[in-house]
Amino acid sequence: MSKPNIQSVLNVEGLCQIVWTNGHLSDFQPLWLRDNCPCPICLHSDTRERILDIMDVDFTIELPTELYVTNDQLKITWQDGHESNFTAQWLMKNCYSDRARAERRPTPKLWGQEIINSLPEIEYADVMNSDEGLLNWLDKIVDYGFALIRNTPTVEGEVVRVAERVSYLRETNFGRDFDVISKINPNNVAYTALTLQSHTDLPNWELPPGTQFLHCLEFEADGGESTLVDGFKAARSLQKLSPSAYDFLKTQEIPFRFHDPDWDIRWSAPTINCDTDDNLREIRYHAALTAPLDIPADRVMPFYKAYRELTEVIRAPENILKIKLAKGDLLVFNNRRALHGRMSFDPNSGPRHLQGCYVDNDAILSKRRILQQKLG
Ligand SMILES: [Fe+2]
Repeated sequence: MSKPNIQSVLNVEGLCQIVWTNGHLSDFQPLWLRDNCPCPICLHSDTRERILDIMDVDFTIELPTELYVTNDQLKITWQDGHESNFTAQWLMKNCYSDRARAERRPTPKLWGQEIINSLPEIEYADVMNSDEGLLNWLDKIVDYGFALIRNTPTVEGEVVRVAERVSYLRETNFGRDFDVISKINPNNVAYTALTLQSHTDLPNWELPPGTQFLHCLEFEADGGESTLVDGFKAARSLQKLSPSAYDFLKTQEIPFRFHDPDWDIRWSAPTINCDTDDNLREIRYHAALTAPLDIPADRVMPFYKAYRELTEVIRAPENILKIKLAKGDLLVFNNRRALHGRMSFDPNSGPRHLQGCYVDNDAILSKRRILQQKLG
């Protein structure tokens, strides 16, 4: 929202009503204002954490009849004599009107295969050498759910160095970082060259890793394009095509499981996860890790029907971005939004070696906020 200036403040039927110079209207409830009093008795001046115990406040607390603003500060003297001062800027930033909340809502830029013509990409040097470059890159990840870093040095471990530009790594049962290798004449199933259908990684964890980093160190093989699908776009398309399927996948938890001799990791969650305002938060989708359905019998067939409808959207060619990674490319994507996969390739035509790791989305978003504050 544009620069906040208070035009007038009135007690309107018990609410603190502020009219802003840009025409915006804010209504603040008295209990909300009292709860957020920024004085040092209510809010710790160092930690900025709340000290006030709301249980000590009369829930029928009322505003004074007259309200005043001086020097762009709203000053409220409560009935018990306690004084609260709010800056205009803080009030505007924390206005919880429908309009202000809608403006603060994240607006992901949805994409399909056409984004191949305008990939969100950035140079390695920009990410590593300047705060502006780092923020620019994080903006792309947040907006599009992925970004491609070009000209990353093809040195083992470089993927970790780039990830650590943001934060600590998120370790999993696959370790701190991992290799995706194919060799000529592969001798292990891990080195297969088969098609990998679109999926999100580790949906079997209570909190699947947020952002995945995949660095291409070597790629001489024929085929093997990486695929990305915007899971948020797929969910919105499904919502239009089949609202009942969308609603079903949003509410029905299904079980996921990974197990090997050392691990047995299980979690159940809906395929589509939204917040209470229906903003998309997460897609969990991985056929290979979906455990035998453990849901009420009358929900089994509706699940398969809804899953099939979603999968048709995910596999529609216009929704699949195909990128042939080249040496030095580092693909970074939100594993809880973008589904990834790989086309099959001929393992005898040359080597393919990617190195990967994860960072939590909290860390990505936090770093972005800190840089936004720093760079203004
Ligand atoms: Fe994967």
